[in-house]
Amino acid sequence: MTAGNDVGSAVESAIGDGGLIVVSNRQPYSHGYGEGGDGDGTGDENGSERTITVDRPAGGLTAGLDPVLQRTAGTWVAWGDGEADHEVTNEDGEVRMPPENEAYTLKRVWLDEETVEEYYYGYSNRVLWPLCHGGVWKTEFAERHWQRYRQVNETFAESVVERADPDSLIWFQDYHFSLAPRFVREAAPDPFLMHFWHITWPAWDTFRACPQHRALLAGLLGNDLLGFHTERYCANFLDCVANAFEDAFVDREDGRVNYEGHTTAVQAFPLGVDAAAIAEASTAVGPDFFEGFGREHGIAPGTRIALGVDRLDYTKGIVERLNALERLFETHEDWRGRLTYVQKASESRSLIPEYQNLQTEVRESIERLDERFGTEEWTPVVYLDQFLPSEELYGLYRAADVMLVSAVRDGMNLVAKEFVAAQVDEPGERDREQGAEREGIERGVGREPPGVLVLSDQTGAYEELGEHALTINPYDTEGFADAIAAALSMPADERRERMATLREQVTTNDLDAWMARVFGAADELRATRERNTADGA
Ligand code: G6P
Repeated sequence: MTAGNDVGSAVESAIGDGGLIVVSNRQPYSHGYGEGGDGDGTGDENGSERTITVDRPAGGLTAGLDPVLQRTAGTWVAWGDGEADHEVTNEDGEVRMPPENEAYTLKRVWLDEETVEEYYYGYSNRVLWPLCHGGVWKTEFAERHWQRYRQVNETFAESVVERADPDSLIWFQDYHFSLAPRFVREAAPDPFLMHFWHITWPAWDTFRACPQHRALLAGLLGNDLLGFHTERYCANFLDCVANAFEDAFVDREDGRVNYEGHTTAVQAFPLGVDAAAIAEASTAVGPDFFEGFGREHGIAPGTRIALGVDRLDYTKGIVERLNALERLFETHEDWRGRLTYVQKASESRSLIPEYQNLQTEVRESIERLDERFGTEEWTPVVYLDQFLPSEELYGLYRAADVMLVSAVRDGMNLVAKEFVAAQVDEPGERDREQGAEREGIERGVGREPPGVLVLSDQTGAYEELGEHALTINPYDTEGFADAIAAALSMPADERRERMATLREQVTTNDLDAWMARVFGAADELRATRERNTADGA
């Protein structure tokens, strides 16, 4: 992403002279071993060493923040989880990034296996993740996981404090670091602390089930600014604070909490995608790719494509989606042989039994569908779990007739926005006259653009896009199946109209705009704080 001017000035103004420190669980770059040698530094029998390779941010927020860090010469603190990460860092775990122009410092925090098991797989992903997504039944509380989560938050906080100036701006990302802001504030009261919570914030009745709910809230209230995707999550958070702490002052109108003498602003910033980069990538593959893709996966030219792109997580509603597709083929028989659903999935958090179960369930559902309806000429579901270069992935987004986003709960869901960003084809008059199938056949898959977004009303994205997408309740299998059928037979004019509005929304509120809003809010709050200090308030 090339950050626009608005972002540039908002970022620079908010950061001032003190520098930016970003804290996240995942690092922007990781180092691994390439081919050859054994990596032990001693050379193999041929005397050659294994090469060290760098994995780069593929997209999303990490890729968006990277140029900001480069421009502001900041520091990024993150878990060093790459196999060869140690080989390139100094004794403090630091390495200059990116390799080609070494513009900022990446400070890697080393976590041993037991720590990862307890802090990451344990508390972060077996307590906070299900809890925040409303799945109290899926949470597994263990005291040692909590203690380790605390300890890791302390370690990250120490790394921050060692590198912070009184006028630094420190930006924590997500649920892995609920406690770190308070630890930092206790050790270094001056830097400006902000936090973006990337997942849902649940209602008080759900949140209070967590034995550590007060500590988590108190930790987050160490921030000066706390951001969520939607107003609803902000309201839920404020409600939790009001219920948990009798002595907290909560201003729901202005989105402010005063707790133990410190004020935290709570605001909604719906995250966007780098729409321009996605649009560009989506046009990088041409007819050859689509023809090859169709051949490889047995998709005949002219077949309609429904697409799903997900991390294999139980919040994404993949099984619910497959049930709806099964229902579609049962009740709308005319789509048999004419529609293929492509599921791109990436494995995730596989050490957790819930995730292993989901992987099995998804595979079994797909097999069931294929066995039940598949024919010699037609495969109902194509499953892709291999890595796809972004051009191919966004190319598929572009070619899809229907995008199925059916999360049962999702803080935002950027796949919905990526799909819209990749719907770049504006058919001209001639295409309209020649009818629906022309474009699609030329590209080997799909039909005349634009495609239709089918979107779950349980996602943060629904707040912004719901009105112009076809919305579904993922648990309503019948209604979901009908919505897919409606999307597939929607007249071109209506598709164009809906997509034009969605594109306006997604391209205007892109990642740059989000960044400008977050830093703009930080800048304003910092200015107020300075005025208050000057006035002796
Ligand atoms: C969600 C979280 C992110 C996380 C991502 C991938 O989007 O909000 O913080 O990085 O999932 O999960 P993982 O556990 O692999 O980092």
